[in-house]
Amino acid sequence: MSKTGPDTNTKSVFIKTYGCQMNVYDSERMKDVLAPIGYATVDSPDGADLVVLNTCHIREKATEKVYSELGQMKKLKQAQGGKMTIAVAGCVAQAEGAEIMRRQPAVDLVLGPQAYHKLPEMIARVHRSTGERLETEFETLEKFDALPKSRTADGPTAFLSVQEGCDKFCTFCVVPYTRGAELSRPVDDITLEARNLASQGVREVQLLGQNVNAYHGAAPAIEGGDEWTLAQLVRHLSKIGGFDRIRYTTSHPRDMDDDLIAAHADTPELMPFLHLPVQSGSNNILKAMNRGHTREHYLDIMRRMKDARPDMALASDFIVGFPGESDKDFEDTMDLVREVGYAIAYSFKYSERPGTPAAEMFGQVPEDVKNERLQALQALLREQQTAFNASKIGETVQVLVTGTGRNEGQMHGRSPWLQAVHFDATPDLIGQIIDVEIVGASLNSLTGQLPGQSKEVAA
Ligand code: SAH
Ligand code: SF4
Ligand code: F3S
Repeated sequence: MSKTGPDTNTKSVFIKTYGCQMNVYDSERMKDVLAPIGYATVDSPDGADLVVLNTCHIREKATEKVYSELGQMKKLKQAQGGKMTIAVAGCVAQAEGAEIMRRQPAVDLVLGPQAYHKLPEMIARVHRSTGERLETEFETLEKFDALPKSRTADGPTAFLSVQEGCDKFCTFCVVPYTRGAELSRPVDDITLEARNLASQGVREVQLLGQNVNAYHGAAPAIEGGDEWTLAQLVRHLSKIGGFDRIRYTTSHPRDMDDDLIAAHADTPELMPFLHLPVQSGSNNILKAMNRGHTREHYLDIMRRMKDARPDMALASDFIVGFPGESDKDFEDTMDLVREVGYAIAYSFKYSERPGTPAAEMFGQVPEDVKNERLQALQALLREQQTAFNASKIGETVQVLVTGTGRNEGQMHGRSPWLQAVHFDATPDLIGQIIDVEIVGASLNSLTGQLPGQSKEVAA
């Protein structure tokens, strides 16, 4: 057979992403690796040649979800007469490795977060039925070096991983085991990817890392010197042109330096939003968690951030029911929440993770106590989130228009404080930053109108 047309050449891949933004970024990069070998992305696993589950191991529920999803994929694969390659990527792949293929034999290949550049080679091995189908080595920079330099941007916002891995070893957390040691990408490498994104119309970039403010990447070759901090990287990216908005996530209190706080005051492109997880408001629990910071240190950072940028929206993650957490410890958390006042926060019941120190600790908290505490904390956080959103009513805010809304004629966008904003407008505004008057607010979003719109309606 000689020539095949483009259609017969095209294979389809369905990628399902669980977990954090790093996984979202990685899924995008897997698409970039697969496109040159003929894979087009599809929205459903039904009939797909390749299915990739990009998994999360952070809590027990997250891991269990993967196995139930794999059960579904197995049925689809059977319905297709076995003509579907099933790949498991991400943190469950890294943590459980070959065990996944034992538990679900329909899985063809397993690859950890540092192995995505090897995906084409691994697919070829499956098709040839030879060679290793498990790749869980840690070679982070090799991955970044080997991934295609250009990316396909998907709209006016984009993620950009600048740092991976974690050396903090919080006693509850699997990330240091699934993502490996902290590593930062060189500034030149990031600049190349950033320019590529900006040239495709990306206006807002979110720099990612499990400990993004621990960033310490090699300085640009022409500058000499050794390493740059996140603050230096942010200022540099604000100058290369193209980006109107820069964000970063997730930070750790231990790595929050004065210069990064100062950057929030002197770099207008740096958005007024800080996600700084504290996990608990009790010093006893912070110590048992091996967080390496106190409640006081955290509160001091939050105060200084507000001083640097008074409209700063503050965000956090919380864990309730960590082993040994007493009523008083929990009250300390509630108290800290009242003191900080959050724009948004994510809260979880402590989940025992095999192999982590906390799983072996005395004083595991009963499920009903965890439930009660989670409900109380979430009620308070919802109240604060609703109040924060409502505080924008009557203001005219700069909204980056990101896409069309659910209803006819409706568009959605993003405020500087990472709130979703809905308003009536035309799709030609996508990718622009426009003034929107905020007229309503709920727990999860704002509603607005273009300036002057209300007068027309009222007339
Ligand atoms: N690097 C980030 C968080 C990564 S994990 C940081 O240092 O904060 C995202 C969130 O999941 C954590 O902030 C924590 O709140 C939650 N989490 C992690 N391990 C957990 C566990 N074993 N049980 C419950 N929640 C957990
Ligand atoms: Fe996990 Fe702690 Fe590292 Fe965050 S800092 S990824 S919570 S070990
Ligand atoms: Fe989950 Fe791995 Fe992210 S465990 S939260 S996908 S780093």
